[in-house]
Amino acid sequence: MKQSNQTVLITGGGSGIGLAIAQKFLANDNTVIITGRNLAKLEKVKQENPKIHFYQSDVTDDAEVRMLADDIQEKFDGLDVLINNAGIMNLVDAGNESNDLHKQMQEIEINYNSPIRLLHYFLPQLKNSENAVLVNVSSGLAYVPFAQAPVYSGTKSALHFWTQAIRPQLQPHNIKVVELLPPVVDTPLAHGADIAEDDNLKPMPPEKLADIFWKDFINGKEEITPGISKQLKLMSRLAPKFIFKQLNKQAIPNK
Ligand SMILES: NC(=O)c1ccc[n+]([C@@H]2O[C@H](COP(=O)([O-])OP(=O)(O)OC[C@H]3O[C@@H](n4cnc5c(N)ncnc54)[C@H](OP(=O)(O)O)[C@@H]3O)[C@@H](O)[C@H]2O)c1
Repeated sequence: MKQSNQTVLITGGGSGIGLAIAQKFLANDNTVIITGRNLAKLEKVKQENPKIHFYQSDVTDDAEVRMLADDIQEKFDGLDVLINNAGIMNLVDAGNESNDLHKQMQEIEINYNSPIRLLHYFLPQLKNSENAVLVNVSSGLAYVPFAQAPVYSGTKSALHFWTQAIRPQLQPHNIKVVELLPPVVDTPLAHGADIAEDDNLKPMPPEKLADIFWKDFINGKEEITPGISKQLKLMSRLAPKFIFKQLNKQAIPNK
């Protein structure tokens, strides 16, 4: 996989995993573009990383994504690497009828529908690149569902299957498809969950995750499973009921 002189777009790159990966690409002399909804957050990242480019752009907004693609084509002469990283996780009790339905639909829209949208609008640019890569950031929870976040778990397993299904379809167009399935990572997204006290589930620093990602990415690995994600994959095949119970000692979220 080419390490430098690539143009890289990372959705949701203003914090957490996306930002740590953005800094890896920056440090290796790539042109890095990040997106997010919160302008103040993006401006702060720009101050701290002057070489980064940013767009305030919502992955769920079709017109905004289309404009983003047009602008990147014009200003950067197209894209080489698209990283579908933006995501949210809602803790939900499906047994409580006062759930916020809109928030759950929005979670599907961000986590699953939007990677499909981003690929759709950036496909012509990826086809034009000599080193095109699509990276989808799903989750170790694509292997074993986390009961406190049922919609999230569903979106990540859907993203996992979509990623596997499109890999052979994009191969004739020379677009490599990579999936990053992070374990628990110390980011704003993970802070809300009541994860069992278990050394294996200790949040990994985003910088460590980015180091593992980078090493596997440049070596051309297709499915990157840092930390506990590797065990979740194995255990989901060997002992699915056992690993589900281990992960879900508390099924209903506190708040
Ligand atoms: N942290 C973990 O334990 C963990 C584990 C497995 C997988 N992951 C996955 O890793 C990815 C990154 O999450 P993170 O942990 O780094 O959390 P994070 O720091 O909260 O990052 C998520 C980013 O997505 C952006 N975002 C959310 N909705 C968006 C939208 N509609 N349009 C554009 N940007 C949007 C957010 O920025 P704005 O709010 O400014 O839009 C934020 O910067 C997610 O896909 C997540 O599911 C995380």
